[in-house]
Amino acid sequence: MKIRAAIVGATGIAGQQVLAALDNHPDFEIAALAASERSAGKSFASAITDEQSGIRRWYVAGTEPPAAAMQLMVQEAKSIRLDGIGVVFAAVESDAARELEPIYAAQAPTISTARPHRMEPDIPLLIPGVNLDHIALVKEQRRRRGWKGYIATLPNCTATGLAITLKALDEKFGVDSALVTTMQGISGAGRDLAALDVVENIIPYIPREEERVTIETRKILGRLGEGGIAELPLKVSATCTRASVLNGHTEAATVGLKRPASIEEVIAAFENFGRDFSAMGLPNAPRRMITVHRDPMRPQPRLDRDAENGMTTSVGRIRADEVIPNGIKYLLVTHNAAMGAGRGAVLLAEYLKRAGYLA
Ligand SMILES: NC(=O)c1ccc[n+]([C@@H]2O[C@H](COP(=O)([O-])OP(=O)(O)OC[C@H]3O[C@@H](n4cnc5c(N)ncnc54)[C@H](OP(=O)(O)O)[C@@H]3O)[C@@H](O)[C@H]2O)c1
Repeated sequence: MKIRAAIVGATGIAGQQVLAALDNHPDFEIAALAASERSAGKSFASAITDEQSGIRRWYVAGTEPPAAAMQLMVQEAKSIRLDGIGVVFAAVESDAARELEPIYAAQAPTISTARPHRMEPDIPLLIPGVNLDHIALVKEQRRRRGWKGYIATLPNCTATGLAITLKALDEKFGVDSALVTTMQGISGAGRDLAALDVVENIIPYIPREEERVTIETRKILGRLGEGGIAELPLKVSATCTRASVLNGHTEAATVGLKRPASIEEVIAAFENFGRDFSAMGLPNAPRRMITVHRDPMRPQPRLDRDAENGMTTSVGRIRADEVIPNGIKYLLVTHNAAMGAGRGAVLLAEYLKRAGYLA
């Protein structure tokens, strides 16, 4: 029998990626939708349609909204009914997430794309294919909090692509430091960004982003031990900017390895990373966690963000760095709202079902 899923924040950019990934899913059924009081009481179809212009605000490139969602009534996130719901996908802005997710988790496993609970010691911060062993934290979380469900979080979308590539390098050579400069797509800021500001421009500052990339990357790459996660003592320096790109974050990374590695060894580490995870055959898993480009004109967000439904991290321009000891540098492109949020949340749920954490 399929697990009944509730999607909170279903009208937003991350929530719509959840819906697209759940369309005709073999294991999950779209059973309930919720959003803010602005959308509550409307059908999903009318909640995403601008009343004046009639324009439908559906943001997942190359897809249509799932038929199963269109006529469902959007409930208010505060009062959504969760009887019979086996998993909640929560994709709402931070203040709402802080308040609502514990209420949901008391009743059902809750997978969150939002920031507030990510760094709590008993809450796992997970990237499918990277650190799924950290899910074991939820046993202690449930015991301490007395919840029927639990909260499992996904990282900041900028940390996701970086952490995937760093994990591939850490497994083979050890990583000591990472310097990253980002050029981030505007959809990473949700629907409310004043998009006109970014046209023909680079916005030099994204509030809180650099700090999130630093602290979240250390937790993701940390080791699960008896007392929780021992963070990786990685030196991270991030500069995050917003660029005139709709979807997809581009990141220029320079990484100091613990052991020297040739460029061919680095390419092999990227190409072989996550093969066991991909081989599990989960419906939304990419065939390759990392796609390596040898053409120096790749990766580009327009060409590469939608590769494998936005679930692979595209890497190119891999070369030696002469400044940092054992330094290598590369560019990556990651789809912020797919692997970095909604579709990544569904992939996590697919794994959790397989591993016995959802019933
Ligand atoms: N966009 C990305 O690429 C991305 C990547 C990683 C993580 N995230 C995180 O995912 C979450 C959602 O981001 P988003 O980009 O999808 O934002 P978004 O496009 O602005 O959508 C926000 C969603 O939350 C709902 N909402 C807003 N205020 C609410 C409230 N007070 N109570 C209940 N629901 C409320 C909205 O409902 P209405 O339609 O009714 O307003 C909408 O469904 C955020 O925490 C964000 O940081 C986003």
